[in-house]
Amino acid sequence: MLIRNPKGWVLPESKATSEDVYLNRRKILQGMAGAGLIASIGTSAVIKSAFAAAEADPSVGLYPVPRNDRYKITRELTPEKIATTYNNFYEFGSHKEIYNAAQELKIRPWTVKIDGLVEKEMEIGVDDLLAKMPLEERLYRHRCVEAWSMVVPWSGFPLKELVKLAAPTSNAKYLVMQTFEDKSVAPGQRQFWYPWPYTDGLTLKEATNDLSFIVTGLYGKPVPKQNGAPLRLAVPWKYGFKHVKSIVRFNFTDKRPTTFWEALADEEYGFWANVNPEVPHPRWSQATERDIGTGERIPTEIYNGYGEYVADLYKDMKGERLFM
Ligand code: MTE
Repeated sequence: MLIRNPKGWVLPESKATSEDVYLNRRKILQGMAGAGLIASIGTSAVIKSAFAAAEADPSVGLYPVPRNDRYKITRELTPEKIATTYNNFYEFGSHKEIYNAAQELKIRPWTVKIDGLVEKEMEIGVDDLLAKMPLEERLYRHRCVEAWSMVVPWSGFPLKELVKLAAPTSNAKYLVMQTFEDKSVAPGQRQFWYPWPYTDGLTLKEATNDLSFIVTGLYGKPVPKQNGAPLRLAVPWKYGFKHVKSIVRFNFTDKRPTTFWEALADEEYGFWANVNPEVPHPRWSQATERDIGTGERIPTEIYNGYGEYVADLYKDMKGERLFM
């Protein structure tokens, strides 16, 4: 992956939304919800002006959703402005400032295909899917293989709920997720040397782990396009490239998929991609990471600090490159 000037994205404090402001917004919205205001005004001008980025998204009224406090953070939340303007989304460019280009993506209608080794294949609109799923907010760390990290409030639903809905057959071993393909909105997809569509996958055991999460929101509103609207994966013990954005297909299979990054550079980006400070990338160390919110360099933790939830998944695996 390309590494850009690490300082280019740092916004002055005055331009970033602080955690206080974010928490305040939650309070205001929760208060409004409690007073029945959201229900009565719906996608009102009030919400629209407060949350300009969520314009015209029919799911805006679903947020904020209750926080699941099981997942603790020990670092400051990354300011929203930074988390939403420093992104990897190769469909829109191989640099970090793709947030304007990503606005070309049309996220409604958005149909998701669930197919492969399941009891009944289906195609479902994202709003129908959201209506079936238990939405919650989780504060997660997010560690990119490029050695930067952030801490953000994702909203969404546990991936295991989607697996339950799909009802995989007993032969299914992997869940493969794929991003949309549309060269007319995503200029990166005209670069034929990339193996589009962006694809990644998990074992079914990983997909049904408590931590695996399908993101639909961020900072108490629908997830912005540049962060993977309307559906994106979050598996916080793995490097960020596993976090497929703007998913259109969930395919259940008995074959381990070749992922986007494996197809490009297998020796650098493996299937498992679990975070480990002691296993360097072939071209750089993974011992530390730069927090893109504070700019601080901090030690990286095994499984990005989530070992208590996931280490058991790998305990009997021999001969696999679990950490790259
Ligand atoms: N998904 C798609 N479709 N295309 C991408 O280029 N980049 C990945 C991942 N998901 C990528 C993607 C990488 S390398 C990272 S680190 C995360 O998205 C970045 O997520 P963020 O921009 O929300 O921080």
